[in-house]
Amino acid sequence: MSSPVDDELPRRWCGPALLMAHGSWLGPWVQLRACTAGCRVLEVGFGMAIAASKVQEAPIDEHWIIECNDGVFQRLQDWAPQQPHKVVPLKGLWEEVAPTLPDSHFDGILYDTYPLSEETWHTHQFTFIRNHAFRLLKPGGVLTYCNLTSWGELMKAQYSDITTMFQETQVPALQEAGFLREDIRTEVMALVPPADCRYYTFPQMIIPLVTKH
Ligand SMILES: C[S@@+](CC[C@H](N)C(=O)[O-])C[C@H]1O[C@@H](n2cnc3c(N)ncnc32)[C@H](O)[C@@H]1O
Repeated sequence: MSSPVDDELPRRWCGPALLMAHGSWLGPWVQLRACTAGCRVLEVGFGMAIAASKVQEAPIDEHWIIECNDGVFQRLQDWAPQQPHKVVPLKGLWEEVAPTLPDSHFDGILYDTYPLSEETWHTHQFTFIRNHAFRLLKPGGVLTYCNLTSWGELMKAQYSDITTMFQETQVPALQEAGFLREDIRTEVMALVPPADCRYYTFPQMIIPLVTKH
């Protein structure tokens, strides 16, 4: 099946990857149970392999990666055999692939994809989290995610405090998905957004660390 995410997107949307590289975005998540010895990680959205390469630095057992774009998936297949830890590439939209994955299978989940439509600009992560992330995590497993196109816009137009933005726009949906308020942590990091990144200009990034009880 041809992917609705065209081959140009990874180049046009390089902002998130650059932000992650700059802000060491994954550090706090990698240090939690998400990526400790022997664990199994699910990553949604391979992109430029920046996050995936960081995951591979941790002493994980298995790294499952869902990617829908044909060209990006080819890069994932080329990258996989060169990694120190087992990679399981899964081709397709998460909307098709995630329902095939078993409950309580992952110690860590990292979700970083694009919105596929204007309507899901602010909400695509919640559909994944509500329908899949909670059930796919083992108890004690940790989810992190970002939706920088949404958060960048919210921080331009509606909020000046990134923690308030997260509390008001993200926490209610995480609780609806089944996570407990006391298990939802965040860390705020300073960053310098790339000058050519039009949708994210805020000089901070927020990192969700969401543990399943
Ligand atoms: C922002 S990039 C990920 C960047 C990545 N975290 C990195 O460090 O390079 C988003 C990726 O998600 C993929 N993607 C977008 N929507 C998807 C979907 N519904 N299912 C699976 N992959 C998707 C895109 O093709 C793209 O490779």
